[in-house]
Amino acid sequence: MEQKNTFLTLLMLVLFSFLQTPGFATTKASRESSYVVYLGAHSPNTMDDEAVLVSHHQLLTSILKSKDKAKDAIFYSYTKHINGFAANLDENEANEILKHPSVVSVFPNRGHKLHTTRSWEFLGLEKDGRVLAESLWSKTKFGEDTIIGNLDTGVWPESESFKDEGIGPVPSKWKGICQNDKDKRFTCSRKLIGARYFNKGYRAVVGNQRSISDSPRDTEGHGTHTLSTAGGSFVANASIFGYGTGTTKGGSPRARVAAYKVCWPPFHGGECFDADILAAFDMAIHDGVDVLSLSLGGYATDYFNDGLAIGSFHAMQKGISVICSAGNSGPTPASVSNTAPWILTVGASTMDREFPAYVSFSDNQIKGQSLSSLGLTHKHYAMISSIEAKAANSSAHDAQLCYLNSLDPDKVKGKIVVCLRGINARVEKGEAVHLAGGAGMVLANDKSTGDEIIADAHVLPATHISYSDGVYLFTYLNSTKSPLGYITLPKTKIDTSPAPVMAAFSSQGPNSINPEILKPDITAPGVSILAAYSTASSPTGLSFDARRTPFNVESGTSMSCPHISGVVGLLTTLHPTWSPAMIKSAIMTTARIRDNKEKVIKNSSMYDATPFNYGAGHVMPNHAMDPGLVYDITPSDYLDFLCALGYNSTRMRAFNNESHSCPLKPMELENLNYPSISIPNLFGSKTVTRTVTNVGPPGKYIAVVYAPRGVSVTVKPAVLEFEKFGELKKFKVTIKVIQEEVQYDAYVFGRLIWSDGMHHVRSPLVVKAKY
Ligand SMILES: *[C@@H]1O[C@H](CO)[C@@H](O)[C@H](O)[C@H]1NC(C)=O
Ligand SMILES: *[C@@H]1O[C@H](CO)[C@@H](O)[C@H](O)[C@H]1NC(C)=O
Ligand SMILES: *[C@@H]1O[C@H](CO)[C@@H](O)[C@H](O)[C@H]1NC(C)=O
Ligand SMILES: *[C@@H]1O[C@H](CO)[C@@H](O)[C@H](O)[C@H]1NC(C)=O
Ligand SMILES: *[C@@H]1O[C@H](CO)[C@@H](O)[C@H](O)[C@H]1NC(C)=O
Ligand SMILES: *[C@@H]1O[C@H](CO)[C@@H](O)[C@H](O)[C@H]1NC(C)=O
Repeated sequence: MEQKNTFLTLLMLVLFSFLQTPGFATTKASRESSYVVYLGAHSPNTMDDEAVLVSHHQLLTSILKSKDKAKDAIFYSYTKHINGFAANLDENEANEILKHPSVVSVFPNRGHKLHTTRSWEFLGLEKDGRVLAESLWSKTKFGEDTIIGNLDTGVWPESESFKDEGIGPVPSKWKGICQNDKDKRFTCSRKLIGARYFNKGYRAVVGNQRSISDSPRDTEGHGTHTLSTAGGSFVANASIFGYGTGTTKGGSPRARVAAYKVCWPPFHGGECFDADILAAFDMAIHDGVDVLSLSLGGYATDYFNDGLAIGSFHAMQKGISVICSAGNSGPTPASVSNTAPWILTVGASTMDREFPAYVSFSDNQIKGQSLSSLGLTHKHYAMISSIEAKAANSSAHDAQLCYLNSLDPDKVKGKIVVCLRGINARVEKGEAVHLAGGAGMVLANDKSTGDEIIADAHVLPATHISYSDGVYLFTYLNSTKSPLGYITLPKTKIDTSPAPVMAAFSSQGPNSINPEILKPDITAPGVSILAAYSTASSPTGLSFDARRTPFNVESGTSMSCPHISGVVGLLTTLHPTWSPAMIKSAIMTTARIRDNKEKVIKNSSMYDATPFNYGAGHVMPNHAMDPGLVYDITPSDYLDFLCALGYNSTRMRAFNNESHSCPLKPMELENLNYPSISIPNLFGSKTVTRTVTNVGPPGKYIAVVYAPRGVSVTVKPAVLEFEKFGELKKFKVTIKVIQEEVQYDAYVFGRLIWSDGMHHVRSPLVVKAKY
């Protein structure tokens, strides 16, 4: 559906499951469009910025046969860590460049989408507002001095979450800047230590069709929300309309944060463009960040044609952890994005807090959730199904989903309207009812969203109910001539169960690029998350909503991703020498697959969820401090992995400053030393190898296997004895089809656990047998 209002579209993307539509940005009138030309790493005897610039101009001049034309065409030169440039070219020129020996890849400047606190107590870092003595927070002084960067819509610097009270001087290694050349009112601090904006790639695609400002200021809210979730300071008495009141803070409350604004108002389905994303990665690596958080992504694609995969690869090589959202395209299978193995990919689930608002009718009370700031004034409102309230010039489909202007004011006036969830933004449905003169709204799930209920800051009294409750309510509406009902004002309720439950919108595996790498990697809270917000925008993101709140509740894998970024920040403080792969391993192998009722985590239809929903499970920050063993992966291992994917030596040499040569016999993709094991094509039997590093005391680990249905699993050796810290041990896992039990072409799931009695190092096993 084409949206007119840009904020509205944005909100839809953040808060909603959406279909995967390619965001190729070839919408300019001429044949010319913008491309990224990727040249790999800078050569070891790296030249200065100016010399790199000249080399880019020379390369393009050799293709375009004109110095001036080449100069005009290039709008970014990546000169720091990533070698390459972005330029306006036509298709033939782009194809010509690809033939040049020093070019790794050339790809369109594609648009990515944003994937749009109590949560820390739920994660065990505090109890009743007090920090637990043995928690990861106490052990790391709240992530002191780790630097977390965020590629997003920028930041609202005035937010209390970025005040620098009690925080020491800016770390001396920091080389970033506060880019307020065109916006003097934007200031940084000892907390928000840097901010930059990147919009040349956006402008190359959009031209003058949208006016945007040259400032890192967040006028939208998304970037402020995600950055404060990862590293916001303590702010007492934060709430939205008095709901969810408490002290809000990020995962690493003492970390320093930096904002890289790469996302702008949506244009033809894209809002954060590859050319800008790469420029931001290049600068962030140069500036000295320790952790990079990206709550955005496009559809999964070949790694060398994806700015996010390339940028994160260079960051990883410099020891920077990159954490990305899995996407909001669930529950569709194979919808997960950001699938490169060097990225930590995060799904979204609920926590044990609800905002119950009941709808009562006849003798029934149905529990829904809401963050409406308004209540109803009496207890007997006429109720109507939105389809019955269809405007004469609208369709039943539009009315059922409560599109703006689809409802007849004469039929709606003063009533509670029951709308169906789907397609347009949930809060927009409320606005449609409100504009038509309705008194309240009940938002009922469709079948695909099942029991997933999201509390939104609706503009009128409203509540959101499950699919089965919706069917019940519609039956009541059908059963009587004049249905009457009432919606209660929301309350804040904690310690609810079961929790976590997977969000239906959370994108799912298998990994469509490399099914040998399980994705997502992990899940974290991403439903109804309270965090700082931009007061340039309304809590619903709708332009006609005049309300302003310094904090807002949002949902999406955009919100779960920075939870993990915060935890990674803490682990980086605690273990400064660990590689990104070791930190990721610690987070994955200590995750839990059980909820707070000790049952397997459910999906939103209340069936058992699988590793395709939650990866290794739900994050357990305190356990991640001390994982016992880790699965490490070096940059050179990843390069061998890329060789095995078929990138030939020529490309690999360019990619990695000429120092890496592919092994003669390509590695098997399943043998990348990943903390999970995925075998998408099991013919008879297969053996994979792994190596674990002891990061705990000496000890004897025993393998425990929960074999997937229809296969047998043997681990050799089945006991690993470590005599000292840092020791490496190799083992083999053989998975074999059991002829009489196996079901072909269906994924089955199990687990491998190494245990010394104290540590439980868990890895998901994912297998599909082929005939
Ligand atoms: C070249 O690659 C190696 C291996 O990945 C890396 O250690 C080194 O820092 C790189 N050199 C440059 C100049 O980027
Ligand atoms: C907390 O915030 C609420 C509403 O924003 C306000 O009414 C109340 O006075 C505040 N309480 C404290 C202790 O600051
Ligand atoms: C239907 O007509 C009303 C009143 O003329 C107008 O405001 C509304 O935009 C129309 N709706 C649609 C979907 O065209
Ligand atoms: C209610 O009635 C409408 C129209 O008559 C029908 O399409 C719908 O399926 C009914 N809903 C339920 C839950 O019975
Ligand atoms: C939950 O799992 C069941 C059983 O695998 C499946 O049929 C259903 O579609 C899943 N629901 C969601 C929302 O993922
Ligand atoms: C490597 O691949 C590129 C394009 O895929 C091709 O042009 C080149 O000839 C290949 N080089 C070798 C040595 O195979």
